[in-house]
Amino acid sequence: AGVADLAGRHVVVSAGGTREPLDPVRFLGNRSSGRQGYALAQVAAARGARVTLVSANVSLPAPAGVDVVRVGTALELREAVLNARQDADAVVMAAAVADFRPAAMAAGKIKKKDGVEPAPVELVRNPDILAEISADRARAGQVVVGFAAETDEVLANGRAKLARKGCDLLVVNEVGVDKTFGSEHNEAVVLGADGTETPVPHGPKSALADVVWDLVAARLGSET
Ligand code: C5P
Repeated sequence: AGVADLAGRHVVVSAGGTREPLDPVRFLGNRSSGRQGYALAQVAAARGARVTLVSANVSLPAPAGVDVVRVGTALELREAVLNARQDADAVVMAAAVADFRPAAMAAGKIKKKDGVEPAPVELVRNPDILAEISADRARAGQVVVGFAAETDEVLANGRAKLARKGCDLLVVNEVGVDKTFGSEHNEAVVLGADGTETPVPHGPKSALADVVWDLVAARLGSET
């Protein structure tokens, strides 16, 4: 940190939360503010990286010197990440991606009718982008980082998720009603596929970002 140790590197960061449309005016969404992803992008740029920020429904100002690609849905986020990762040294998936989407989007606004119960919403699975980009790397040595929000058995669930996703690093947050979402602060443990465990004490999201880039930089070869 404090040096341009990511100079000559291209990093991709996804941020925010996807919105899956039900009809032209409604969606299934989540509470991700995008703050952690934006902090990751800003810190990477400050450390010299070229940054592509794939931003899903975030209402924060774009960090200076970062290329922002705006997306709405999980399928759009997947396209943007698959495209941006081609020449990337690292991909950090900080976005909250919806696991499911409505099977179909109604062409017009869904209306209520007197005396008629609402139709159930049929959901289908979204692709797991993190698992996909981890299993089939765009470049040899590309470092892939995931995020996981867990409410209980944080470390055990985190380890299992790291193995299932196949990424190099997994940043595990403990979330609750008053924790993490929309907050300026974060507390986490970063699990490595190599068995390492790096606790990050409660602090600003930029401090967690610095730890993530330290761990990524250590895993990148010395060649650029
Ligand atoms: O499985 P879970 O949603 O807890 O995993 C979270 C991690 O996986 C995050 O890094 C998120 O960006 C990523 N993810 C994804 N595609 C999905 C769901 C989650 O890339 N469909």
